[in-house]
Amino acid sequence: MRGRDFLSLADFSKEEIQKVLSVAFHFKRRHLVGNKYDTILFGKTLAMIFEKPSTRTRVSFEVAMKQLGGFVLYLNWQTLQLSRGETIQDTGRVLSKYIDGIMARVYRHSSLIELAEAASVPVINGLSNLFHPCQAAGDLMTIYEKKNRITRLKIAFIGDGNNVCNSLMIGASKMGLNISVATPPGYEPRSEVVEMVDKFAVKSGSKVTLTDSPQEAVRNADVVYTDVWVSMGQEEEEEKRLRDFRGFQVNKELVKYAKKDFIFMHCLPAHRGLEVSPDVIDDPLHSIIWDQAENRLYIQKAILALII
Ligand code: CP
Ligand code: NVA
Repeated sequence: MRGRDFLSLADFSKEEIQKVLSVAFHFKRRHLVGNKYDTILFGKTLAMIFEKPSTRTRVSFEVAMKQLGGFVLYLNWQTLQLSRGETIQDTGRVLSKYIDGIMARVYRHSSLIELAEAASVPVINGLSNLFHPCQAAGDLMTIYEKKNRITRLKIAFIGDGNNVCNSLMIGASKMGLNISVATPPGYEPRSEVVEMVDKFAVKSGSKVTLTDSPQEAVRNADVVYTDVWVSMGQEEEEEKRLRDFRGFQVNKELVKYAKKDFIFMHCLPAHRGLEVSPDVIDDPLHSIIWDQAENRLYIQKAILALII
């Protein structure tokens, strides 16, 4: 995987995704016995370009890179010449002269593709309007950790057919997990993503269904997953979205349809009282959101170690 871009899980085989997970578990096991530090990326530098805010992605990448012996540069889009019209291609070409990898969080996925085409160093997607592959890789790790397997499980994703949903569908369909996505009409995942996922599902034997019924999606689910109704960059649609997503809250009534030992997941940040009720997200019996967030660190380490 050395030198490859990490823009979407769609670009990686089942075996490669398994490799990322197993390297992440290796790093987690080392952490648990107090071995946080490595020298595998000694002297390497990762530039992190952020066009949007971030807590988890920024901090986990920064800590991961430093603990692997490398350096990081946090680059806010607004303080780069990008904000004054320099192209992403020219930025990528110049950064490649100084650093060994770029992680970028952008609005348009096409910006990442342009960046990756121009840069001679690997580019990692830290979230775009279309995908959030590092999140989905961490989520697969967490599901594996909690359920001891990832095949023959059912994930229910409730809410917006957004970047997190797209990457989770890709990850699930590559790895042989069943996934049922419930969205209000008009908020389904994009058709090109669904077509791609259907192809992966044929190969892996996983079942992918789309519905507008949260109850149908959650029925017998092992994993109940939700994300915000208003993603970064959609603030102007907030009022309409809050109206349209009514009835799609993950709450105690809805999770009654899931398996008794279901786990609740959320990529965070969360809005209690909107996409999820406080008694579900803060229920220590089922909600595993803190472990899910923690695993981002080991997944970032694995991606960085394998790619850079
Ligand atoms: N889940 C996630 O990517 O969180 P941040 O936006 O805080 O990075
Ligand atoms: N769908 C959310 C995910 C945040 C991690 C967003 O794009 O804002």
